[in-house]
Amino acid sequence: MFEDESFFKKYGSFYAKGIGYTIFLAFIGVLFGAVLGVLLALMKLSKLKVLKAIAVIYIEYVRGTPLLVQIFLVYFGTATLGLNVNALAAGCIAMSLNSGAYVAEIVRAGIKAVDKGQYEAARSLGMNHGKAMQHIILPQAIKNILPALGNEFVTVIKESSVVSVIGVSELMFQAGVVQGASFKPFLPIVVVSLIYFALTFTLSRLLGLAERRMSTSD
Ligand code: ARG
Repeated sequence: MFEDESFFKKYGSFYAKGIGYTIFLAFIGVLFGAVLGVLLALMKLSKLKVLKAIAVIYIEYVRGTPLLVQIFLVYFGTATLGLNVNALAAGCIAMSLNSGAYVAEIVRAGIKAVDKGQYEAARSLGMNHGKAMQHIILPQAIKNILPALGNEFVTVIKESSVVSVIGVSELMFQAGVVQGASFKPFLPIVVVSLIYFALTFTLSRLLGLAERRMSTSD
């Protein structure tokens, strides 16, 4: 399969560039996704009906439409509005908007998973709602949220491959470039799959390590 030794010498730099873009996209995606997700989760848990409705509609809509379609919506939507947003920025925006909806559910589930008795005990000790949330519920919820957020990072690394459709030169796009340049249809895809696997496997091992650290401090 690797009959000419020079495959990596010739095309290694394409993949290297792709790895950079993929990690950038994923990092921005979870970072802004996490911020948006926390905001949406708080809105969804809020007593204000309007905020709750906005959050519910957003989350359902984003989770109910394909990421592929959302990427096109952002890319062509911004262009139609006359905004000059390049493909990389559009990709980052789409990834963040998408991830936010999933993170919102992670955060909400993490908060909901804390036993109700904890809140009741806090209130019966005289804390108001805000204090109970801040000192009793959220510190415990974090332990549910962080591991799931790690998994979201892994998901976003894989999902960022879809951004290749608008021409962002991340890994999947580069694999296509190498296919064209090498006249080989299969090998570049095998290589890119191994790179994705190396990225996600390393990350999930690191996350597992961090998780074990966290649980020993319980
Ligand atoms: N591939 C699915 C889609 O196109 C799932 C996306 C998952 N995204 C996430 N941030 N967890 O909608």
